[in-house]
Amino acid sequence: MRTQWTPNSWRTKTALQMPSYEDTALLARIEGDLAALPPLVFAGEARNLQASLAEVAQGKAFLLQGGDCAESFAEFSANKIRDTFRVILQMAVVLTYAGSLPVVKMGRMAGQFAKPRSSDTETKDGVTLPSYRGDNINGLEFSEEARRHDPERMLKAYHQASSTLNLLRAFANGGYADLNRVHGWNLDFIKDSPLGARYEDLASRIGDTLRFMAACGVTSESVPTLRRTDFFTSHEALLLNYEEALTRTDSLTGEWYDTSAHFLWVGARTHQEDNAQIEFVSGIKNPLGLKCSPAMETDELLRLIDKLNPENTPGRLTLIARMGHDQVEEKLSPLVRAVKKEGRSVVWSCDPMHGNTMTAESGYKTRNFEHILQEVKGFFAVHKAEGTHPGGVHFEMTGQDVTECVGGAESISDEDLSSRYHTHCDPRLNANQALELAFLIADELKHIGGDPNLHTIEAAAAE
Ligand code: TRP
Ligand code: MN
Repeated sequence: MRTQWTPNSWRTKTALQMPSYEDTALLARIEGDLAALPPLVFAGEARNLQASLAEVAQGKAFLLQGGDCAESFAEFSANKIRDTFRVILQMAVVLTYAGSLPVVKMGRMAGQFAKPRSSDTETKDGVTLPSYRGDNINGLEFSEEARRHDPERMLKAYHQASSTLNLLRAFANGGYADLNRVHGWNLDFIKDSPLGARYEDLASRIGDTLRFMAACGVTSESVPTLRRTDFFTSHEALLLNYEEALTRTDSLTGEWYDTSAHFLWVGARTHQEDNAQIEFVSGIKNPLGLKCSPAMETDELLRLIDKLNPENTPGRLTLIARMGHDQVEEKLSPLVRAVKKEGRSVVWSCDPMHGNTMTAESGYKTRNFEHILQEVKGFFAVHKAEGTHPGGVHFEMTGQDVTECVGGAESISDEDLSSRYHTHCDPRLNANQALELAFLIADELKHIGGDPNLHTIEAAAAE
């Protein structure tokens, strides 16, 4: 029989990709400090998210999840948070309009600080040091001091997550996300690009609609949903010392919630059935994500689903497929078919980033926009063929004008990568590329739902 789950029962399991702290007394003190700090999210919000994801599972909504590969202490500023948030709003509005479906908006933000690595160490010029594992474990700088695993970083991560979340809540509820501001979300450097123009065109049509509705008495003042949005946070459940310390019983239901974020996912490197990360997330009530790589076997997936969602609750589990552009149809189809055949309710989401990482000739780790797009198209094609709902997308992106992924409408080349390559980990889509992708996904979404007349009009206007 399975032993009783507790927030620390993961400690009896094999824990991969976790730090090794030297000073265990300091670690225990920090865990105690974290456990005494207020929760970052409220359990009721996580339940609202699960209800929205249940709509996605039933084909009535679409999930948009995006943000940094890894957040960092150094790159922390109000403008960066705002710019990522506003590109997500732009993408959401494009998708809502095209798909005539509600879009669930989720950031890889306010807690995405821990990274799994393919190697424990990194060697440079004959010196070998521990790999960088994300800012709540160690520092990116290649020095012995920076690469030491330091538990105090967890406190800093908590406080940064807290102020990030505070600003996101303010933007989502305080007027920034008002649909009447749809033009204002266009960033200056996007305005002059073809994408910017396409966005302005869509924004104008939304503006016309809003003016018409206002004349009918429907305004931001009379209908709050026009002036605010729900924005949820998520990160990988990797550093379990941090997650455990923020796991609390909900006073309303008596159930356990990890209050570090609304949604937690388990990565492709740590989802072995009997390991620590799976044990941990199986007992929390937050909606969960599970990354599926090409190595995922059908029966393994079904067993993981049973473990993570034994009651088959819609919205509880999102499967995030990261197969690579050349394998998506071959590897995803059998999984989708099996899940459908076994009657399991899941959200299928597409991560077109992680299966398409490569090293450019310049030595930079990059991703080709064409490959990202191909994987998204493959994902939609699989769901069309299987008669299932392509529920959502998961991106590594930023609101900044970086040069990390090659291709896209601005044709970023290998030589351009060095000019503005800022990521702490994997290459992200920049604001233009993210918006371009949203329009391309919108084209796919048009084929599955919504008002066909509306789309004909839009297609004509886009000509
Ligand atoms: N509240 C609705 C929603 O979140 C409408 C909305 C308000 C909206 N602001 C938005 C939609 C910004 C997309 C982007 O869907
Ligand atoms: Mn990544």
